[in-house]
Amino acid sequence: MGNLNTNLCGIELDNPVIPASGTFGYGLEFARFYDINCLGSFSCKGTTLEPRFGNPAPRIAEGNAGMLNSVGLQNPGIDHVISEEMPKMAEVFHKPILANVCGFSVEEYVQVAKKFDACDQVGWLELNISCPNVHGGGMGFGTSCESAAEVTAAVKAATRKPLIVKLTPNVTDIVSIAKACEEAGADGLSLINTVLAMRIDLNTKKPVLTNITGGLSGPAVFPLALRMVWQVYEAVSIPILGLGGVSSAEDVIEMMLAGASAVGVGAANLRDPFACKNIIEQLPAVMEKYGINDLKPIIGGAHHG
Ligand code: SIN
Repeated sequence: MGNLNTNLCGIELDNPVIPASGTFGYGLEFARFYDINCLGSFSCKGTTLEPRFGNPAPRIAEGNAGMLNSVGLQNPGIDHVISEEMPKMAEVFHKPILANVCGFSVEEYVQVAKKFDACDQVGWLELNISCPNVHGGGMGFGTSCESAAEVTAAVKAATRKPLIVKLTPNVTDIVSIAKACEEAGADGLSLINTVLAMRIDLNTKKPVLTNITGGLSGPAVFPLALRMVWQVYEAVSIPILGLGGVSSAEDVIEMMLAGASAVGVGAANLRDPFACKNIIEQLPAVMEKYGINDLKPIIGGAHHG
């Protein structure tokens, strides 16, 4: 059997498959279906300082090859996550997790980061400057080099854990934002978050989502995400967690060839709770089919030679 191990910002993973933030909660619901310790890791739901109810429904819509969400960072707040969710999570998952850090000001990001920094099971902080569904925070920080760098530097100074900055595709030049984050101290980058999109209901002739717009994810965005991972890999020297529409073992290998050290799986979890488990189980056979014995050497492999 081939070697599935990889490394993300200095932490070894048994395999590259990481459920994406917002599609896996804190792991508990999925642990009822299978032993989630088969995962490389997972990224928890984006967490803010205070509890949030999120946006009003409807906040989910279908796309032709994917789905839209406008959840609006619903979460119980960092103190509840640490006191209630993390102890339960530790019972079912025994590896480091990514803590997805959200905020509406640099100070809020820093406060959330400091609280996660004190948690033993948090391996990495994933700085979410890319949520398209909130005003005054999220993607607002990730669409200019200056604000992306400012929040990256502030959070970097507040943590001892590897800092992975999650980027939005809703910009003209993702490479310049990626470079700004690297220069500001990011240890890694994750990309892409969802693509700003909308649907209109033909019966009501109004937008389906109460928030009007939402983030598109699922197979429709995979080639777009792959292109951005490719471009960012060419421009930075820090590791990339590649995600966006990944739904098969073949997609994982393609992402790694484009430059991803590990690969996030998002919308696929909502369609099939066993998606990540199935991808991990299928990886050895797909690797064998394409003559791959070891995943680490293929990272960025499509750029060379
Ligand atoms: C949301 O809660 O609206 C989605 C989270 C994200 O896109 O980062």
